[in-house]
Amino acid sequence: MSLPSLQSLVEPDRVHRSVYTDPAIFDLEMRNIWERTWVYCGHESQVPQVGDYHTLQIGRQPMVMVRQKDGSVRVLYNRCPHRGVQLCGNQRGNTGTGFVCSYHAWSFHLDGKVRAIPLKQGYEGTRLDMGHPDCSMKSAARVDSYRGFVFASLADEGPGLLEFLGDAKVAFDDMCDRSPLGEVEVVPVCHRVVQHSNWKFFMENQLDALHPSVTHQSTGVPARRVEQRVKADQGAAPLFFHYLSAFATSFDQWDSVQTVNFPRGHGILKAYMGLRPTDPDTVAYETLMKQAYGEHKAEEFLSRSIHHVLIYPYLSVQSPLQQLRCLRPLAADKTLSEIWHFRLKGAPEAIYRRSLWYFNLVNSPATMINADDLENWTKGQWGLQASMAGDWVSFHRNHGGDEERDGVLYSNKGTSEVVMRSQFKAWSEYMAPALAAAQA
Ligand SMILES: [Fe+2]
Repeated sequence: MSLPSLQSLVEPDRVHRSVYTDPAIFDLEMRNIWERTWVYCGHESQVPQVGDYHTLQIGRQPMVMVRQKDGSVRVLYNRCPHRGVQLCGNQRGNTGTGFVCSYHAWSFHLDGKVRAIPLKQGYEGTRLDMGHPDCSMKSAARVDSYRGFVFASLADEGPGLLEFLGDAKVAFDDMCDRSPLGEVEVVPVCHRVVQHSNWKFFMENQLDALHPSVTHQSTGVPARRVEQRVKADQGAAPLFFHYLSAFATSFDQWDSVQTVNFPRGHGILKAYMGLRPTDPDTVAYETLMKQAYGEHKAEEFLSRSIHHVLIYPYLSVQSPLQQLRCLRPLAADKTLSEIWHFRLKGAPEAIYRRSLWYFNLVNSPATMINADDLENWTKGQWGLQASMAGDWVSFHRNHGGDEERDGVLYSNKGTSEVVMRSQFKAWSEYMAPALAAAQA
C-alpha cells in the first residue's frame, strides 16, 4: 500500500485528516513510535509481592510487568515460546514462583527463563535447545523507572528514560513531592474505557484550554450555581464542588494561563487548582509537609503551578490530584484508556479522599465531564472519516504568536493551538524516516 509523504500530511498550522483515520499510518505509528519509545507500564506498587504481575500492551505487543525474587521489576513479552499462547490471560494477579502455560505446561522462571518442558523425551534428536533464548520468554529491550513509575522500551537503542522524559519528568516529581514521604502508592483499581476515536484526540484535548468553556459548560455552570447556594446557606461548600464548577471558567480566564510545550510533544498546562484551602485537614497536611521538608521546600512543592502534564504520546498526569491516564491504542479509530489515581504516602486520609473525588467526579467515564469529552472525540472521528467533507484539521489559533526559547514553545495565550502544533512537530520527527522510506 502506498503511503502519503510527510509534507502532504502535516503543515505548520494544519494536518491532513488521514493521520487520524488511515490504518496504514496507524500501523507505522505503532512500529515507529510506540514500539520504539519509552512506554509507561505501571507503578511499582501495582506489583508489590514476588510473582505479582500486570499485563499491558506496548504498541501491538502483549507484555507483562512482573515482580522478581530480588525485588526488581521486569517487563516480558506475554507469550509462550512453544506455540505463542499468552501466559497471563488476566489483567493482573500473582503467578507464584513462575509462569506456566495453560496449553502444554511449558513453565518459566519469573525472569522469563525456561524452567521446564514436559515430556522431554519427545524432543530428543530435534533442534529444540532449552539453553537457546528462543525457548525462554523474551524481555523488553530496556526497562527503567523514575520515582516508582516503570517504563519499558522495545528498542535496544535510543535516548534513556530521563532524556526521553526531559522536563516533563516534573509530572512524577510533583506527584511524589506532595507526599511527606516522597512516594505515592497506586490505588490498584482503574477505570478502563475504550474510546472510539484515534489516540491523538485525547492527547490534543488534555491541554486544550479552549474547549472546557464549551464542552463542559453544561456541567460547570450548574455546579457553580449549586456551589454558590451551598456557600450562601452554610458559609462554605465542600471542595469537590470546585472540581466541577472550575469547568465554568471563562475563555478570558483560560487565556490567562500558559501552556509550556517541550520537545518530543510533552507539555504542561499551568494553572493553580485552588487546592490549598485553610480547613483543618489542609492545615494538618501542610504541617506534615513542613516537618518533612522544611518551610521553604514544602512551600515550593505545594505551590507548583501545574494543571496537567502530558508525556507524549500516551500519558496525561494531573499531579496535584494524583491522577494519571494512560493510552493503549488498539486501532486508528479505537483507543483503550486506563484511568488511575494514587495515594500520597504519609498524608492524612482526608487528602486522599480529594484524589478519589476527582477520580470519580471528573475522570470516571460515569461523569458528565469525561462523557462529554468522549462524545466529542467519537463525533470527531466520524467527521474525519468522511472522505468528501474536507481534508484538513485546523490548528491556526495564535499561530505565529508562539515564543520559542531553548527548544521549548511557550504559548502567548492559554487557548493557543500551539499544543497541537507541538505534538505534530514531535509526531513528524518520529514518523519522518518511516514515511520517507515508504516513498523510496
Ligand atoms: Fe474536556
